[in-house]
Amino acid sequence: MTTMKACIRDSRGPDGLTRFGDLPKPTASKGYVVVKVMAACCNPVDYKLPHFIMGGIPMGFDVAGIVETSESPLYKPGDQVFGNTKSAIAEYSLCDATHLAKKPAYLTWAQAAAMPLAFVTSYQAYKNYCDFDLKDKTVLVIGASGGCGSAGVILAKHMGAKDVVGVCSGKNADFVRGLGATDICDYKSENILDKYGAKHFDVVYDCASSSGGGENYFEESFKVLKDEGQIVALNGPPTSWVRKFIRWEAKGMKLLLTDNTDAKTTLENIFQICGPGLKPPVHDPVYSFDQEGLTAGYKMLQSRRAQGKVAFNVGGW
Ligand SMILES: NC(=O)c1ccc[n+]([C@@H]2O[C@H](COP(=O)([O-])OP(=O)(O)OC[C@H]3O[C@@H](n4cnc5c(N)ncnc54)[C@H](OP(=O)(O)O)[C@@H]3O)[C@@H](O)[C@H]2O)c1
Repeated sequence: MTTMKACIRDSRGPDGLTRFGDLPKPTASKGYVVVKVMAACCNPVDYKLPHFIMGGIPMGFDVAGIVETSESPLYKPGDQVFGNTKSAIAEYSLCDATHLAKKPAYLTWAQAAAMPLAFVTSYQAYKNYCDFDLKDKTVLVIGASGGCGSAGVILAKHMGAKDVVGVCSGKNADFVRGLGATDICDYKSENILDKYGAKHFDVVYDCASSSGGGENYFEESFKVLKDEGQIVALNGPPTSWVRKFIRWEAKGMKLLLTDNTDAKTTLENIFQICGPGLKPPVHDPVYSFDQEGLTAGYKMLQSRRAQGKVAFNVGGW
């Protein structure tokens, strides 16, 4: 059996989350490809999932790399791809070909790995969860310096929003402006309602509420939302999830659950919208693919202080 190095989801690791070790190298079955991983990113879901779910396999859902073997007509060996998988942070990742897109040359490996979950989620927030398009609209992105929030700022700007206000810490103001925000609101010293007034925004994209630190922007969001506006939130209290699943959500408020089934098409649509000016933000530094790098990268992710996405240099570029 051929083995490979991997970041294994294992509570016996030094940080109680991941262990750098050996796993069998995957082989492709029909519809799948094996990707030699160049870069991979982690997401809060990696540390939120209880260990009994997906334990013992590589962690990470965001991958970029080179197709090594293919059992799909979509890709051939040597193609540079990126997208969604269930086992990203490993030397080789088994990927459903319909969850991958071709990597454009203008993205670095780390930038490509930074895109899938954050950009697919944010694209779906605007395209699938709002009943209108964003042209000339006012958009508030809460948690604008994080993975999903930064993608939300970039996409809202490229989709034609007139004003994109990012809610972030003051120290991240320049970073969020650099993504395309027309203004920022420092949640540590400013109040959104006081600063912009009632019924100001067409869309509130909330990437921060209920994220584990007691953040709660729901009441304020309803106040700053226009009558026909839309709040799209990535987290909410259990009652909100129940309301979502019985299709009884409050007017103007929707909880989003990312759907990766059509990630290939979604990522291609994002390129059409953004063009080569697209710069998915990657937290500096990019972490190494060893126990030390994995522990440090996940520590940064869990601190919720990363600017953009936490990435790992798996390919040694
Ligand atoms: N429902 C779904 O399908 C779905 C999909 C994707 C993600 N999610 C969830 O969405 C959340 C965001 O994901 P992510 O990848 O963007 O996480 P992330 O990158 O870890 O988010 C970190 C950001 O959160 C911001 N933040 C922390 N406390 C805040 C507060 N009190 N107010 C405003 N912002 C605050 C930080 O901003 P500053 O450093 O500027 O303070 C930081 O930039 C996570 O809980 C994730 O699990 C859900």
